[in-house]
Amino acid sequence: MRDLLFDQTPTWALLESASRLTAQRHGYQRVVTPLLEATELFAHAVGQGTDIVDKEMYTFTDRSDRSLTLRPEATASVMRAYFDGGLHQAPQPVRVWYEGPMFRYDRPQAGRYRQFFQFGAEAVGDASPGLDVEMIEMAGDWLTAAGVEGVTLQLNSVGDEVCRPAYREALRDYFRPYLSEMCEEDRRRFEINPLRMLDCKKPSCTPFHASAPRIDEHLCDPCHDHHERVKAGLAALGIAHVDNPRLVRGLDYYTRTAFEFWHEDLEGAQNALGGGGRYDGLAEVLGFDPTPGVGFAMGSDRVVLALQRAGREVSADVVEVYLIPAAEGADSVVLQAARDLRGEGRSAVVDHSGRSLKARMRRAQKLGSPCVLIVGDDEMAAGTLTLRDMASGEQVSVPSSQLIEQVDSILGVPAVTGE
Ligand code: HAM
Repeated sequence: MRDLLFDQTPTWALLESASRLTAQRHGYQRVVTPLLEATELFAHAVGQGTDIVDKEMYTFTDRSDRSLTLRPEATASVMRAYFDGGLHQAPQPVRVWYEGPMFRYDRPQAGRYRQFFQFGAEAVGDASPGLDVEMIEMAGDWLTAAGVEGVTLQLNSVGDEVCRPAYREALRDYFRPYLSEMCEEDRRRFEINPLRMLDCKKPSCTPFHASAPRIDEHLCDPCHDHHERVKAGLAALGIAHVDNPRLVRGLDYYTRTAFEFWHEDLEGAQNALGGGGRYDGLAEVLGFDPTPGVGFAMGSDRVVLALQRAGREVSADVVEVYLIPAAEGADSVVLQAARDLRGEGRSAVVDHSGRSLKARMRRAQKLGSPCVLIVGDDEMAAGTLTLRDMASGEQVSVPSSQLIEQVDSILGVPAVTGE
């Protein structure tokens, strides 16, 4: 788990505002669910045989002997909250969004962290393919608002409990003769969930993927129809996609639509900036009434990485005025000047270090502040403030009544004429 320091947080702030803007434009309301949930919620929702449940959950027993897990994702939590909070009685679908940290005990590397952040949205209570399109559009809009380029939308249908059993059998028939050459995990997946085998990244296993049976050839009519309607909806909006019949996603709750956004510059398994899909069977798996849903989650850490690699990081705001008290008793004059500046919406920082004026000027320069305010002995005697324009090197001394006006002329803020 890593610290995010201020060389990075301005870019994160950009993503946070992209989240709020995108959610608001699409009519999604924010929800905040706990970071901890009962372990069985995720075990049931995400599924045995997935990496998340088998290897990656932070699970512990609390003081009352309950097994709790730091959330590895939030869709299961949202579904639980939807029922716990009585949202199933509200007009459907219920459109919600969330952002925050998720936890997976993954092998840390660039783009893969044990605490990472998602922006996600879920629309629960409606099975229309148009909602799948809305979700994909919204996820894409978020990426655009964040300024990410070079992304492709990968799209698949993973079928449902009507057509998937036959597909699972077709996969087993196909993989059976190669099992002895495949990894141990795949041999286990063969029994529990052969679809997961298509997600294996091991060199011993990937060569067998190319000729494996394709899900698109096994979809039942309703799933096929749903998929066609999603594709038609995307086409109508001019949203390009790549048909990817091998896309299985890392969680078991998906039915029908599954999608991911891949970035061209992030290599290997870390190229998915986000993903999602429909999960019409999830509510039932969790013991609630059958309720359809669709959603996505985007990984902010990877988006920040993509922005960094493209040289599109946001740098921290510079402090507009750097204030230096450089005489006995100047502190209170400078503190008041800083307060006046902030009151007028300018940013101001006081250097309390007491070091030499030269050293403090160097510091202002390093911070990139365009304007420095100095109060030394002369200013104390004359009751003035000296302002230095760091770009031109010019200095003026003004009474405090002219502080804002003079600072604004240095900052290049147009004067208010009063008309
Ligand atoms: P997911 O594909 O597991 O889906 O995660 C979504 C995104 O979270 C990934 O594409 C990736 O960008 C980011 N992510 C996942 N693990 C890590 C990690 N260890 N380090 C950094 N980033 C990571 C879900 O979580 C589903 N709940 C999405 C969803 C919502 N489906 C329907 N509704």
